[in-house]
Amino acid sequence: MKVYLKTYGCQMNERDSEAVAGMLAARGYEITAQEEDADILIFNTCSVRDQAERKAIGKIGILTRLKRRKPDIYIGIMGCMAQNRGQALLDELPHVDFVIGTGQLHRLPEILAGVIAQRHRELRVEEDHAVLTGMSTHFSRGNRISAYIAVTRGCNRFCSYCIVPYVRGREISREIADIKHEAIELVAQGVREIMLLGQNVAAFGLGGNINPPPPDVSPFADLLTELNDIPGLQRLRFTSPYPSYFNAKLIAAMAALPKVCHSLHLPLQSGSNAILRAMNRHYTAEQYLDIVGQLRRAIPDITFSTDIIVGFPGETETDFLATRRVMNEVGFDNAYIFKYSPRQGTVAATMLDQVPQQIKEERNHILLDDLNRRVAKHNAELRGQIVEVMVEGPSKRNCERWCGRTATNKMTIFDPAPGLEPGDLVQVKITRTTAMSLFGQLTATGGAPV
Ligand code: 5AD
Ligand code: SF4
Repeated sequence: MKVYLKTYGCQMNERDSEAVAGMLAARGYEITAQEEDADILIFNTCSVRDQAERKAIGKIGILTRLKRRKPDIYIGIMGCMAQNRGQALLDELPHVDFVIGTGQLHRLPEILAGVIAQRHRELRVEEDHAVLTGMSTHFSRGNRISAYIAVTRGCNRFCSYCIVPYVRGREISREIADIKHEAIELVAQGVREIMLLGQNVAAFGLGGNINPPPPDVSPFADLLTELNDIPGLQRLRFTSPYPSYFNAKLIAAMAALPKVCHSLHLPLQSGSNAILRAMNRHYTAEQYLDIVGQLRRAIPDITFSTDIIVGFPGETETDFLATRRVMNEVGFDNAYIFKYSPRQGTVAATMLDQVPQQIKEERNHILLDDLNRRVAKHNAELRGQIVEVMVEGPSKRNCERWCGRTATNKMTIFDPAPGLEPGDLVQVKITRTTAMSLFGQLTATGGAPV
């Protein structure tokens, strides 16, 4: 039987879809990218903002027609919205056969087999810790050079706007040995870059305790140190860390380990201390800037990206300007700017002073404009310089040119040379830049001049 998998939302969802594809492929299902060919359609959904839920419901809703035409197909919903809405999805969408929450992911093949054998509808949303330990990524991803590894799942922080702790459950960490084993396997398959994933990834190994550890304790730094040793692995990245866990030990490890990339996604959310407090974010703008300063001193060429929410309840013009100021002070090279979206069941959804949509739009635009201008300027400063790029392959826009990323996560486009392979490290001299990309010429591959 052919399975079509569509993924909404974050990298953790992409990883989960890869793991599900791997489990199903191992049981003889064929994974297809063509929706029309599929016997089974599975939607891995997101709940983090209302728009993400509406998009998936809209898409699944119109499949009524397909199901009428082809009554033998199966339609399933997994992921955060499955966990969040459960039975309501089966009630509202009569053509959906199964709804499997985030805690039951590792059982998906078994549940699917039951649904097919008995032609019944199934709802499974219980939380189950085996989801983390019992499931690594088995899917062989061809000549992909970059892979995800989930190292923690769930979140205990309960930021007041966020639904993740409710839909992904309590925070748990895998064992270092287990993660290392998975990383070694991926490298043996040709992977050169690993992205470690967790909703609160730098809290790895702290047993779900939300209090940051003393300066000399960081199980996450221990994990990075172990993985840095793997021969053949070239780059290590991670997302998303909560700022408070960047203590002396973690910063020192990041600076000392050659494979840890010099680009860090560090969610700020707001630059106003009043809003940060209302968000239940346990740091101030000053503390955030202090962490950025420490990282810059230890790793001078580090670049930062971030997440920002505009229009959180009670956000005044002054609060917004504080965010704008902190963003300018850090000088982010990328930022995901979100308009606050009330999520039922979270504390912020019940707060008074909800901000009108129009103001959210305006603030969103202002920050995006600031960002584009700043990044164009940062990138222009790289003109004439030589940067190291890990080759990804032909560029999406123009397949005669190739692309790759710098360790600071800048997309770089260049003319390929004979014998160049995805995963190679090359030197590129930058000749032209935009806010999105760098363009240049190869000067050397693996140390040898071209
Ligand atoms: N509304 C808008 N953005 C949100 N995020 C999380 N919850 C919400 C919400 N209710 C954003 C945060 C988080 C990112 C993944 O999504 O910025 O870091
Ligand atoms: Fe959500 Fe906060 Fe946890 Fe991130 S740290 S997943 S924003 S609750």
